[in-house]
Amino acid sequence: MTILVTGGAGFIGSNFVLDWLAAAGEPVVTLDKLTYAGNLANLASLAGEPRHRFVKGDIGDQPAVEALLAEHRPRAVVHFAAESHVDRSIHGPGEFVQTNVVGTFRLLEAARGHWQSLRGTESEAFRFLHVSTDEVYGSLSESDPAFSEATAYAPNSPYSASKAASDHLVRAYHHTYGLPVLTTNCSNNYGPFQFPEKLVPLMIANALEGKPLPVYGDGRQVRDWLYVGDHCEAIRMVLARGRPGEVYNIGGGAERRNIEVVHALCDALQALRAREGGYRGLIAYVADRPGHDRRYAIDARKIRAELGWSPRESFESGIERTVRWYLDNAAWVAQVRSGEYRRWIETNYGKRA
Ligand code: NAD
Ligand code: TYD
Repeated sequence: MTILVTGGAGFIGSNFVLDWLAAAGEPVVTLDKLTYAGNLANLASLAGEPRHRFVKGDIGDQPAVEALLAEHRPRAVVHFAAESHVDRSIHGPGEFVQTNVVGTFRLLEAARGHWQSLRGTESEAFRFLHVSTDEVYGSLSESDPAFSEATAYAPNSPYSASKAASDHLVRAYHHTYGLPVLTTNCSNNYGPFQFPEKLVPLMIANALEGKPLPVYGDGRQVRDWLYVGDHCEAIRMVLARGRPGEVYNIGGGAERRNIEVVHALCDALQALRAREGGYRGLIAYVADRPGHDRRYAIDARKIRAELGWSPRESFESGIERTVRWYLDNAAWVAQVRSGEYRRWIETNYGKRA
């Protein structure tokens, strides 16, 4: 048996594929369009691995996806592929609707056809696991309870709105056609192979170059941080034992203000690669993100109670591992900060006061 992983050359997808194969999982076919966020270097350690096949392609190309499903007859589709960065969705929402909404729809259509062609135990065992985000639930005040699976959707950015739309399509394919879907809504991830446009790797990369650390607004926005390996383990558990049609919220139980995250990164860097005067002096408050969500927090009681999942890494241990990884992988960071990356930095930060 094989699984099909979409977006497997991106941050979380590549961590998932590497962890899956290291845990002696069955063969993986990775389908990825290799946008700016997709990087084959993330999968370089799989060179010569007979259980892995990489296919460059778009989830929105339904005939190509149908051909891939007919060829490999996977027992599951694990769907990571997406445009994933809120700031980019503010500058250019079209691509988010195209991939996250239309692309997921095409993928669902292809998966439905594949599943309907299966018989007996193959049909019963098939799963479509949709990887989504806590951002679909909108923004919490400091005193609100954390997001549960029953929290009403209230997405605020083009990114979260497009993910919300894809979640609704996935849900509808279960209710209407019986497609055995699973949806996971996870909080902010960090760890190896994260593209340095997101908070954690951007701050590490800038700090190492002695550049300003741009904190949006007052820096008191709260996110619930989860080490990527813990997210991957949760997805494996949901795929193995989750109930079709159900949603599972995944979170680190590690709410931190952005400024606390930046302080933790500065301190971890100082411990591992000391800089004269330290790194905290590089912090620069800049103009806020439009429509910036104030707080996200996940209530992960369902996945803990039903599947026995809880994160292995604490925030502190995960941040230290991550900083070490970026220090040890300077060549990877240099490679991804290419021409396109420089243009993005100018677009997003150039005009921020
Ligand atoms: P990422 O941007 O690092 O990777 C996305 C991958 O999808 C890239 O390899 C890209 O090339 C590929 N891709 C984009 N459009 C495609 C298309 N049309 N067809 C095929 N491949 C395409 O994103 P990530 O941070 O790894 O996130 C993966 C998934 O997890 C996304 O669905 C995201 O919404 C979700 N998620 C992310 C976080 C987080 O903190 N990063 C948290 C919760 C959920
Ligand atoms: P990000 O990593 O973009 O994830 P998300 O917006 O999906 O939560 O940002 C995490 C938080 O960090 C968010 O509140 C925005 C903030 N942030 C900054 O303060 N400065 C930055 O340069 C970036 C990229 C993010």
